[in-house]
Amino acid sequence: MVERSSPLLELASVSRHFGGVRAVDSISFTVLPGSIHGLIGANDAGKTTTLLALSGILPPRSGRVLCDGENVTRAAAHVPVTRGLVHVPEGGQILAGMSVAGNLEMGAYQRRDHAAVRADRERVFERFPVLRQRRA
Ligand SMILES: Nc1ncnc2c1ncn2[C@@H]1O[C@H](COP(=O)(O)OP(=O)(O)O)[C@@H](O)[C@H]1O
Ligand SMILES: [Mg+2]
Repeated sequence: MVERSSPLLELASVSRHFGGVRAVDSISFTVLPGSIHGLIGANDAGKTTTLLALSGILPPRSGRVLCDGENVTRAAAHVPVTRGLVHVPEGGQILAGMSVAGNLEMGAYQRRDHAAVRADRERVFERFPVLRQRRA
């Protein structure tokens, strides 16, 4: 018998309504370790609302979000980050009052492996040289 790995991420009947707008209506899916998923839909289909619900930024009105089997549905937004569940905002949503370097450092806010963070930042600067030029 093949043993299935348990889900890394699980959404169960997650809903989020804004007044009369049913932005997300009872969505359920699971993400298994080692898999890559895309969430595809028309404008206003509810993609961003779904992602905000699972990262805890906009908790769902009903349903459950499980991260590595742990219920994070009502967890404060910083808690899923410590589990590796990170929301990367779309478009140009950066912290406009902070420098480029500061914005990059925010992505490593919870990490304590400082040498590895420096190495990662170096990799980012190599891939996007303009970020190094404008880091301050
Ligand atoms: N904060 C909000 N207040 C009111 N309505 C919202 C809010 N956020 C999203 N909506 C509505 O919910 C629906 C889904 O939006 P959204 O999740 O942003 O869709 P997508 O990311 O797929 O384009 C849309 O009708 C949108 O207008
Ligand atoms: Mg969107």
